[in-house]
Amino acid sequence: MPTTSDRLTLRDLPIPAKLVVTSFLISVGLGYLWAMAQIHFKHASPGEPMPTLADLVGRFSGVPWPSEPKPEPENKDAKEEEKPLVLSRAGVKVKTIIDTRCLRCHKPGGDREETLLTNHSQVAKQLEVKAAHPKGRLVTVLTGLRGKLTSKTMVGVFFEFSEDWEELNNEQRKLEEPKREAERLVLLAWIEAGATKETFEANAFPLPQGFDRTHLANRLLVELDPAAIRMGRGGPQPVPPGEKTPRERWGDAKGRQINVEHLTQSTHAHLLTFSMLWALTGIVFAFTNHSYFLRCLISPLVLIAQVLDISCWWLARLEGVGPYFALAVLGTGGVVGLGVGAQITLSLWSMYGKKGRCVLLLLALVGVGLFGLTYQKVIKPQLEEEKKLVAPIAN
Ligand code: HEC
Repeated sequence: MPTTSDRLTLRDLPIPAKLVVTSFLISVGLGYLWAMAQIHFKHASPGEPMPTLADLVGRFSGVPWPSEPKPEPENKDAKEEEKPLVLSRAGVKVKTIIDTRCLRCHKPGGDREETLLTNHSQVAKQLEVKAAHPKGRLVTVLTGLRGKLTSKTMVGVFFEFSEDWEELNNEQRKLEEPKREAERLVLLAWIEAGATKETFEANAFPLPQGFDRTHLANRLLVELDPAAIRMGRGGPQPVPPGEKTPRERWGDAKGRQINVEHLTQSTHAHLLTFSMLWALTGIVFAFTNHSYFLRCLISPLVLIAQVLDISCWWLARLEGVGPYFALAVLGTGGVVGLGVGAQITLSLWSMYGKKGRCVLLLLALVGVGLFGLTYQKVIKPQLEEEKKLVAPIAN
């Protein structure tokens, strides 16, 4: 095994070469910090610095975390739904209908976050009467043609553009049709009756006389007659505000999952370009004067961890065990980060003598100071800003 004296190490490089390698390592380090900022903006829930476990599992596996059994598709409850509820005064959960059919896109971070529908005042804005919308915009979009979604019609969101439509077969869709149509008609009836804040917030709209509720799913109905409630005939109780039903949690997670095209693109970018980068930082580390063992361990570590990391991205899509691979991304990603950090700092350290190391320490101190300042002035306010943005959904 060659010793330090008869093999080339970073220490032996001429100063210009050392300066190039040093600047390279520092800029890779900075680049890595920016990659963290990118991960924050792309993958973390608003207000969180980094993705939570639930973000991670949602993103790669498309299922909620902590794991929970998948709710049966709506019409599988067919037996329960067949028995009409006996209600002395029927109320409908209008807010639940808007939440399940509209918020997928009309919430912060959704496809149409320009128009939020998360609370009553936002919904009421769509009720304003204008020349183009004599009954308000909400009525316009709820009475348009069924088909592609445009600014004039959202009728399709009850059918083809609803969350679980793809999972239903033709027969199930036929059974679902009248139920979805009933939801649309209830919203129109609610608007007709004034679309009040009280009924929205109580999530209980007293069905008008003569409204045919045959097709309304039992889970959308509540008993409004206090006497009947006392007798224990409440029907399904409303979900507490801010809390999501299992179906919503599964839908949210599915909506957050990265699609195959994106993942393919990310995979090839990481494997080709990042491999070049980690090969260079690894080679630099291979020429340090750290022990033979350490060099054999750390030089290829980042490249190997990256391959494992990317394998986990794909394995996370497996049904059942998938979420565990999504969680493993935390470990493999961590090893990549620590590995790069070790390669950079240990290489820099071993490249210089006493004087050089003093300069490095000084640079590091300045770096930490600047980061602290950035954290106080930019990162913290940004996170607080994001927290405020998500607050309205919670209540
Ligand atoms: C799949 C995503 C999606 C869902 C679900 C959805 N919308 Fe939309 N909505 C959009 C998009 C996109 C636009 C803008 C269409 C355009 O301008 O062409 C829009 C536009 C609107 C508009 C017109 C104002 C605006 O922002 O342009 C209203 C009102 C509206 N939607 C209400 C609803 C209601 C009510 C529901 C639930 C019953 C709903 N939307 C469900 C995507 C959606």
